[in-house]
Amino acid sequence: MKTNFALEEKFQKVGGKRHYVQHLFGRIAGVYDLMNKLMSLGLDGLWRKRAARYLALATGETGLDLGAGTGDLAIAVIKGAGPDTRMIGMDITPEMLAEGRRKLVRMGLQDRVDLRVGDAEHIDLPDNSVDGCCSAFTVRNLTNIGQGFREMLRVVRPGGRVVCLEISHPPGKIFGSLFYLYFYKLAPLFGTIIGKAFEEYNYLPNSLTTFPKAPALKEIMEEAGWSDVRYYYQNGGIVAIHVGTKKA
Ligand SMILES: C[S@@+](CC[C@H](N)C(=O)[O-])C[C@H]1O[C@@H](n2cnc3c(N)ncnc32)[C@H](O)[C@@H]1O
Repeated sequence: MKTNFALEEKFQKVGGKRHYVQHLFGRIAGVYDLMNKLMSLGLDGLWRKRAARYLALATGETGLDLGAGTGDLAIAVIKGAGPDTRMIGMDITPEMLAEGRRKLVRMGLQDRVDLRVGDAEHIDLPDNSVDGCCSAFTVRNLTNIGQGFREMLRVVRPGGRVVCLEISHPPGKIFGSLFYLYFYKLAPLFGTIIGKAFEEYNYLPNSLTTFPKAPALKEIMEEAGWSDVRYYYQNGGIVAIHVGTKKA
């Protein structure tokens, strides 16, 4: 895996990547949803809906959303599932969860989504305790991606699924160059001007530089023990949805 030495230095200064990421999301929690919509040109909701469909929780099942943030993926899962389906959402940033809890109350979904502080690399749940696990735009922020997928495997019951929605590297050369131009130059500019957060929205493209391409992420998931791993590019590969199953 590539190393971004400038970013590594920033992580070390504040006591590691986990602390850096936690403080960063703590600072932008209030503008996070709006900036997501603007930067993805409104596509983020559609991607989460598709990820929720791949998770395919049945009525009465319980799913886990890691790096749940303001709760949008957990909400998408609940909206697409039967009436007794429940979600646990975990995140290391309390400010993001606080935004999420307010949203759940506004939507009347507070009894179906339980947002808690928790770390995706050390999940505070027993083995085989959830029916499926998902994440959206979280895995890129982990210190050790393999450790995250091993933990997800541990807590999901045999036969359950993992779904990972993440920004990816578009495979087409021309489209890829246009995407990188947007992602590395324009998106941070939006973040700086509209979100008033220069450091935070410059971390966004930098976090992709070292993130594995879709086939390599599939290998990491397989090495962690997930079976039948497939990935589905969305919108030319701007994002990819990886899906795996825990052997029954
Ligand atoms: C880009 S946001 C995504 C939020 C949400 N999933 C969404 O779809 O909008 C990434 C989230 O992952 C959280 N995060 C980063 N590292 C984490 C970890 N080790 N465990 C749990 N959450 C983590 C951050 O606090 C942040 O809220």
